[in-house]
Amino acid sequence: MTRRALIAGNWKMNMLRAGGEALAAALTSGIKPGASADLLVCPPATLLAPVSAVLADSSVALGAQDCHMNEAGAHTGDISAAMIKDLGAAYVIVGHSERRADHAESDVIVRAKAAAVLAAGLTPIICVGETEAERDAGEAETIVGKQIRGSVPEAAAEDTIVIAYEPVWAIGTGRTPTVDDIAAMHAHMRQVAGNVLGGADKLRLLYGGSVKPGNAVEILALEDVDGALVGGASLKAEDFLAIAAAAP
Ligand code: PGA
Repeated sequence: MTRRALIAGNWKMNMLRAGGEALAAALTSGIKPGASADLLVCPPATLLAPVSAVLADSSVALGAQDCHMNEAGAHTGDISAAMIKDLGAAYVIVGHSERRADHAESDVIVRAKAAAVLAAGLTPIICVGETEAERDAGEAETIVGKQIRGSVPEAAAEDTIVIAYEPVWAIGTGRTPTVDDIAAMHAHMRQVAGNVLGGADKLRLLYGGSVKPGNAVEILALEDVDGALVGGASLKAEDFLAIAAAAP
């Protein structure tokens, strides 16, 4: 089973309009024809519209970093999956560890958001990952398995969602698990997700946490790693394109 790689850039709370448009333009002109990976950028909500305009007619996809779980209504400051779709986006990241930590998002909330994304006809990228204390305690696989069972919605199928493994201690720290640890975790994730979804051969599993041009080749070569969720290195076109080029 060959799954097409997905290289997703999570810009987080970075970039004003001019910088975001320039970065998106650099990606559209830098992406190689016949590239082996799908490219996706997830700018902050304020830049979805201008970046969407820059990406129009290109093969680079657009995604958001979060959405509300409801379709519409009295939720000041929030945006819905339909609003995101309206701007030309195809993906929404849900349950990123920064949202789980900063906004107390539980598996129940993440699951409801993922269901809202699916209901709008978009693809959720559901994030899971253990803390350093949980890994040290030997609980990483248990925690990630529990997060998958708790965060994947009923309506999900193996080809309608993406799951990203992002160990909390590897995000923005320059530290990564060993390739053996990543391989073991992704194999475990495919098994757990397969039980939940009734199959996981088509499911794309991303690794995220300090992915850089220098470590992308060995990480993306792993059998159960189908792409990367990239934070810091996605803010430089050259680095992000180099990571994309590292996909087998
Ligand atoms: P990082 O972030 O690449 O800067 O570690 C990854 C993420 O949080 O998605």
